[in-house]
Amino acid sequence: MSKIRILPDILSNKIAAGEVVERPASVVKELAENALDAGATRLLIDVEQGGRSLIRVGDNGAGMSRDDALLSIERHATSKITSDQDLFNIRTLGFRGEALPSIAAVSKLSLVTRDAVSDSGTELTIEGGRLVNVAETGAPVGTLVTVRQLFFNTPARRKFLKSVATEMAHIADILASMALAWPQVQFRLTHNERVVKSWPAAIEPFERAADVLAGVPRGDLHPVELSREGIAVSGWISSPRSFRKTANGIFILVNRRFVRDRVAQHALFQGFSQRLVKGQFPLAVLFISVPCDQVDVNVHPAKSEVRFARPNDVHELIRRAVAQTLYDVDQPAWKPVGFQEPARETGEVAEGADEFGRRKAEGGIWKGEGERGKAKEVEAGIRSWSQGVGEASSLDLRGGTPLPQVHEKAILQPSASSLQPPASSRLPQSSSLSSQTDLWEKRNFEGLRVIGQLHATYIICEADDGLILIDQHAAHERVLYEQLARRAENLRVPSQALLVPETLEFGFREAQALEGLMPHLLEMGLDVEPFGGGTVVVKSIPGFLSGRELRPLLTEMAEAAGNPAGPADPQAVLDFCRQRAACHGAIRAGQALTPEQMQALLRQLDACANLSHCPHGRPTWIKYETGAIAKEFKRML
Ligand SMILES: Nc1ncnc2c1ncn2[C@@H]1O[C@H](COP(=O)(O)OP(=O)(O)OP(=O)(O)O)[C@@H](O)[C@H]1O
Ligand SMILES: [Mg+2]
Repeated sequence: MSKIRILPDILSNKIAAGEVVERPASVVKELAENALDAGATRLLIDVEQGGRSLIRVGDNGAGMSRDDALLSIERHATSKITSDQDLFNIRTLGFRGEALPSIAAVSKLSLVTRDAVSDSGTELTIEGGRLVNVAETGAPVGTLVTVRQLFFNTPARRKFLKSVATEMAHIADILASMALAWPQVQFRLTHNERVVKSWPAAIEPFERAADVLAGVPRGDLHPVELSREGIAVSGWISSPRSFRKTANGIFILVNRRFVRDRVAQHALFQGFSQRLVKGQFPLAVLFISVPCDQVDVNVHPAKSEVRFARPNDVHELIRRAVAQTLYDVDQPAWKPVGFQEPARETGEVAEGADEFGRRKAEGGIWKGEGERGKAKEVEAGIRSWSQGVGEASSLDLRGGTPLPQVHEKAILQPSASSLQPPASSRLPQSSSLSSQTDLWEKRNFEGLRVIGQLHATYIICEADDGLILIDQHAAHERVLYEQLARRAENLRVPSQALLVPETLEFGFREAQALEGLMPHLLEMGLDVEPFGGGTVVVKSIPGFLSGRELRPLLTEMAEAAGNPAGPADPQAVLDFCRQRAACHGAIRAGQALTPEQMQALLRQLDACANLSHCPHGRPTWIKYETGAIAKEFKRML
């Protein structure tokens, strides 16, 4: 006799349930998805004891005939796909024909349903996958599914259930993600007969996002919108100043389906790059719309993951959309003391406008190959502009070195003449700008009135509408980092030869790793050469590192490059090296600065693309609004 047997339906449904029905929230998700697929505009979800004793989902969707109802609880019975081509063009949330039989296999389920053409409704009662009763019943058009005693026949699963509060939190999260994608649908969730969440229908999608991301001030949710070649991303993100310590505030929906997608999530983080410190997570609601034939949703039993046909395009679009929004958000909104708003001319773009500023004026992202050339041109323009600014704002005392950097020596021995000419002489003159406002917008920091230094660490400035504190180390780190990154693109950073080359000893692995990095270090102005064994010799360094200890910096770089658990991507290693060099070279906290030096730093900050955060994601500035200060002093009642 053959040893292999075909399993009875009840058993195979129970096995499928193991994948589909992980916890009460999975039941809510599957039933709510069925309701949405049936075109419901109202979903009433009742839960008792965190879903252990009861989950009921009622909808006003299309409902089912008696025959369909009986089929719906059979495995692989679905009205949503018919052919294998359909599998790669899925427009509904469900398609497997597995959810109802799986839920029914591990609970006591009742299904009451009626479609518009039937005179009466049908009620099915199923216990542990066994159909125990079919009856005719009075019912409105729609479907009501009641799931009692979930996992009553799979005690192992029941044991894994968490506290009522945890299970409810999962249920609320699932519903929130659906509420985001279906703003025209009313959702109401009750727990033990008390309403815990209610989303009325037909409100602005933004209202739902603000509601779901509760806690973030509405004004701090910023729209994201970009599309390209059939792929579109839209939604809202928080500014980096609002963040969470977990990824719970990230909602990514692909074609209205809530997914945990690594590509999209990674792109979101990349968009936030250098604006959050380790352990901080952004808040985001992102709707990604992809042609149905370019996304495979059939890759996860609970349909919570997808696979994109063009993952790189999706990644780049999300990253760019998020970065563009943050770029706008990060632009400091203050005005210089006594600033008068001139009448704005429209349509012109300030010379020296940054990448996004220009691109915006040109009508969004580049759409085709032909426009790439233009993009290159723009980039070159930006580069030369920012280098120009840098040169003029250099604090270098030695002359001849065109690097826009604040030298340690310069800081200690300031000389008024070295601070001339002001950067503005190198900036486009205001006549070549569309307006004074444009000039101001490009030079947010320089126009601030520097009041002084606090604890030799923060620069205190006055703006028209508040008090600005600048973290001098973070700000200078940003300046140096961007200079390194920009120069590496096509220029080497000029460096100073050390009078006495410094030799440093490293372990074999580190020395090897350093050797691989050497060409890149040279681009950064750091001339390091192998000297045999684990010894390297440093022959020249970028000016901003003069007087700084080199061993700790090179050790950090070598460790990052040689660490198998470190960043695998060579670009990431290089970026890390730039960050570390900037950090080591930047003005420290506790270092006294002259007013001219502070002013020069502000000027250099204006030349940065990301002027709001240091490369580690710490803010470079904070603002105290005059209004808030007045309130503290009880001036406004
Ligand atoms: N609330 C509902 N209203 C109307 N029809 C429903 C409802 N729930 C289920 N159905 C019908 O029952 C069928 C089976 O539902 P089930 O959830 O088991 O599978 P599916 O939604 O097709 O696919 P999946 O297993 O991926 O969810 C559906 O295809 C649909 O025709
Ligand atoms: Mg379904």
